[in-house]
Amino acid sequence: MCGIVGYTGYRPAAPIVVEGLKKLEYRGYDSFGVAAKNNDMSIDCYKRQGRISEAEKAASMLKGTMGIGHTRWATHGVPNDVNAHPHYDCRKRIAVVHNGIIENYAELKRGLVSRGHSFSSDTDTEVIAHLLEEVYTGDLFKAMKAILPKLSGSYALLVMAEGDDRIIAARESSPLVLGFGDGEMFAASDMTPLLDHTERMMFLEDGDIAVLSPDNARVFSGDTEVTRKVELIDWSVGDAKRGGFKHFMLKEIYEQPHVFSDTIRSVETVPDGLARCKGAMVVACGTSYHAGMVFKYLLEEACHIPVRLELGSEFKYFTPPVTELVIGITQSGETADTLAALKKAKAHNCPTLAITNVLGSTVTRIADETLYMRAGPEISVAATKSFIAELAVLMQCVNHLSGGKFSEEIFRANRAVEEVLLLDLSTAVQTCNGADHIFFVGRGPFYAVALEGALKMKEISYIHAEGYAAGEIKHGPFALLSPKTPVVAICMPGSTYGVMVSNIKEMKARGTPVVVIGAGGDDELAAIADVYIGLPKGGLMEEVLMTTVVLQLLAYRTADSLGRDIDKPRNLAKSVTVE
Ligand code: G6P
Repeated sequence: MCGIVGYTGYRPAAPIVVEGLKKLEYRGYDSFGVAAKNNDMSIDCYKRQGRISEAEKAASMLKGTMGIGHTRWATHGVPNDVNAHPHYDCRKRIAVVHNGIIENYAELKRGLVSRGHSFSSDTDTEVIAHLLEEVYTGDLFKAMKAILPKLSGSYALLVMAEGDDRIIAARESSPLVLGFGDGEMFAASDMTPLLDHTERMMFLEDGDIAVLSPDNARVFSGDTEVTRKVELIDWSVGDAKRGGFKHFMLKEIYEQPHVFSDTIRSVETVPDGLARCKGAMVVACGTSYHAGMVFKYLLEEACHIPVRLELGSEFKYFTPPVTELVIGITQSGETADTLAALKKAKAHNCPTLAITNVLGSTVTRIADETLYMRAGPEISVAATKSFIAELAVLMQCVNHLSGGKFSEEIFRANRAVEEVLLLDLSTAVQTCNGADHIFFVGRGPFYAVALEGALKMKEISYIHAEGYAAGEIKHGPFALLSPKTPVVAICMPGSTYGVMVSNIKEMKARGTPVVVIGAGGDDELAAIADVYIGLPKGGLMEEVLMTTVVLQLLAYRTADSLGRDIDKPRNLAKSVTVE
């Protein structure tokens, strides 16, 4: 959601900034802009609504070796050329790009207008440029220090001004990473634009102001200069490229066997908080919430440790009694609702654990302990390999807590996933791609898988899809079943097999085409199904992984057959950094 990139060095800045913005496209955006300058020269700017590819050349032509850029996801003011960042002061001497929301902008704007400032846009961001204008006398760092206390809300900011040859960066509740090159300095909302240039990165903390020059970055917190660690990042540039795949999403689905193995191996022990806990609560959003739901079923069953599950967006506003370990699952580490929920848990003195994919992300600074997944950068908006990596972390935790009961299964699970990647799903795709509505049903952990399958389907194919606990389908959705509303049912061997078979028969009796995912060789079940997808034999954890991958592929192939913009679905953002 919004992205910013900055560069100062010896090369032309605009093409580097534009390339960087393209790497951030996956976060979701509706307009973009770049500003560039050469030391004391005036600042030039190019900004417009629409995709970067439509105006890449024009934006890259700006002159100068210092630049800042932005991809905008409209919050205040419609998406148009004027509301696109960068934003200027009245005299166009100061340029600002901003991720986040300035909550008190209306009040600040009223004051600025009354003091004679004239505004060009409807954005909250523009107040920052005008506030700077009032105090700037040639030292941009000093001016930023003076105005930042006036802002409430969240921001990652990059600012340039005529008369100062530094970029000033600032962060409050919105991520900002610095990249150290040789005689070049980079800044961005996340690591992906920096991977092409350097592996040396620094993660700014809330309240930090950084002064960027080609040769160094000085970081201040209040009046004090502080040292922030420069981390060596082992994500490769190739990880963030599409390779020979048609879409990032497909590439990321195919990376899952090794992502799962790498992550399993990296979780060698269970963090203290989890090892000690008598109960846990998971807070998460979207796909990560579904990972939490799988965890709940697995941990309760294997270790009899009760797990509660809360949506980050709900937990923040209500106060269910909570004393147990609170686990925040967030692949990006930046989802505002999950962060807010964890902060609230901390305020209740609960121990907290973060599970994330991103080193240095905000969640790692909030939680007492962190477990990392090893998914590498995930570019497609629809989460796939990060979900599998979340499951890897959580399954390995269940395994450790159960005394290693599942070791054999989880260490061979990558092979089961590999086999699923080879399945032919064409008949299932034909059943789905003509439908307006699809139900996904399962029981126990497969209910969570069904929810995730439905989410994938609706996100990228735009077909209305709903995940349901199979037993609940009689309590309402039955009214919607028809020959045009297929159901995808997960029916694996185990305690719920018999009742699932009954459910499938009941749905069939309403004329609904049913795609069944079950065990390979189950001829009786295959005979009931309209389309049958038989999976290799495996334990429960392997079955969860395999069924997940089938549903990811089903969503992908269905969306592809409909010609959808799979990696950048309409209206969606990869990382939702506002509440
Ligand atoms: C957005 C993404 C989803 C993701 C959710 C939570 O909605 O589009 O794919 O599952 O945020 O993200 P997180 O980074 O917290 O896991």
